[in-house]
Amino acid sequence: MVFFFRLKHKIRNMDVRTGLIVLLCLMGVSWAQPVKYLDCGSVSGKVTGVDINPCPSQPCQLHKGDSYSVNVTFISNVDSDTSTAVVHGIVAGVPLPFPIPVPDGCRSGIQCPITKGQTYNYQASLPVKSEYPSIKCVVEWELRDKDNKDLFCIKFPVQIVS
Ligand SMILES: *[C@@H]1O[C@H](CO)[C@@H](O)[C@H](O)[C@H]1NC(C)=O
Repeated sequence: MVFFFRLKHKIRNMDVRTGLIVLLCLMGVSWAQPVKYLDCGSVSGKVTGVDINPCPSQPCQLHKGDSYSVNVTFISNVDSDTSTAVVHGIVAGVPLPFPIPVPDGCRSGIQCPITKGQTYNYQASLPVKSEYPSIKCVVEWELRDKDNKDLFCIKFPVQIVS
């Protein structure tokens, strides 16, 4: 009797545990992943993290026709009343323009004017056009301050897929 009770209890505990693990895994899929990036000369700021969503494995696979959200956290070293994003896709060493819908950083999660010492979350969307080729490339993302210096410059590899 006691044995059966213990067994039942054990099974119930196991169900709860597996349920929890499954739930955490499901949640993990939708969580923004911290992306490995290279700093390419952030002189007016310091990057503390980069998230791309969705990007369950790296390099991020960008599906044509889909849009991705990019979240860059940085600390500014300068005061600036403007911020402008410039994005390139580097293909075989050649930087090609990678147009984004809203190049104005002050309309991408950043409250301007930017003040020195403050932390900001820059949030933008990266639409992947269906006419892009299926290639691996490096995305170089700059956010320039009022003097055209980089608040951040980051590079991360991506793979464009159908
Ligand atoms: C962007 O990243 C920062 C730092 O990881 C986080 O606090 C913030 O919630 C993120 N924003 C979005 C919209 O994911």
